[in-house]
Amino acid sequence: MRKERPSKTARKVALNIVTLGAKPGMEEVLPAGIVDATARLVVASGAAGATSVRWSLSRKMVTVYEAFDWMMPGQFEAFAHRKAFCEHQVREGIGAGASQVLVLGAGYDTIGWRLASEFAGVEFFEIDHPATARLKAKGIGAMGSRTNLHLIAEDLGKRQLVDVLHGNEAWSLTAPTVIVAEGLLMYLSPEVVGTLFDQCAVISGAGSRVVFTYVGTRSDGRPDAGPWTRLVLWILKVGGEPWLWSIRPEELNLFLKEHSWIIAPNLAVSASRCGVEFFGVAMK
Ligand SMILES: C[S@@+](CC[C@H](N)C(=O)[O-])C[C@H]1O[C@@H](n2cnc3c(N)ncnc32)[C@H](O)[C@@H]1O
Repeated sequence: MRKERPSKTARKVALNIVTLGAKPGMEEVLPAGIVDATARLVVASGAAGATSVRWSLSRKMVTVYEAFDWMMPGQFEAFAHRKAFCEHQVREGIGAGASQVLVLGAGYDTIGWRLASEFAGVEFFEIDHPATARLKAKGIGAMGSRTNLHLIAEDLGKRQLVDVLHGNEAWSLTAPTVIVAEGLLMYLSPEVVGTLFDQCAVISGAGSRVVFTYVGTRSDGRPDAGPWTRLVLWILKVGGEPWLWSIRPEELNLFLKEHSWIIAPNLAVSASRCGVEFFGVAMK
């Protein structure tokens, strides 16, 4: 990834969420308040201009996204389901006693900002590349900081999670924690993904869970981006954010076991694809 520049894919996900807010029926799927908060955040951070956001909020833009959905079939709406899935898991984790939420590769996701005021007793942490994290911090500052929301600028490919969180006074290594890796793992190398799961186990207490999304692997070994995989992978590579990791769903359990986690029992969705991604939850 071109680390010195703010993430284009994070901006794309955020604007996609804003446009989903203009699609009839999506309000049933999208978490409450997400469209408004995301629209405010991208403008306040400078990630997108007010005009782009106004366009993104229009029905015309829905038509544009739908016209390009052939490239990654179902992916436009899949972002709404992805956000809903992650938020549902975070809320369920907090309900089950988690007192920390850590969002890895958070981009312009607003879950931490929205839920921090609702759950004052829970500490929320976000980590992203410095270039993206800086813009995010500017946006959150303008929207209203939360005392229990901690924004951390780090490259997860360069620094171990343990080292990143070790010096953070608010972080507890023993607290039950929900860790979110939404739309992130495909951008990391296989070594980094394995180490990241190892580290997630080290930095969190009993009863923790990792909520994540991932892409499958095709028979030729490439990440499966749908029928236009070669084109999509090329566009991502040229854009400076190539996909580096994927896994076949049937190999996921073994992979997680090797890294101190298991697939959450009874989680049928981990085997079903939404757009080009699978959703998963790992438990300790
Ligand atoms: C596709 S965006 C997803 C953003 C957010 N999770 C969402 O779903 O709205 C991927 C994010 O991962 C971040 N990222 C990628 N590689 C990273 C790394 N090595 N360290 C920290 N963040 C990284 C990017 O900066 C970007 O914000």
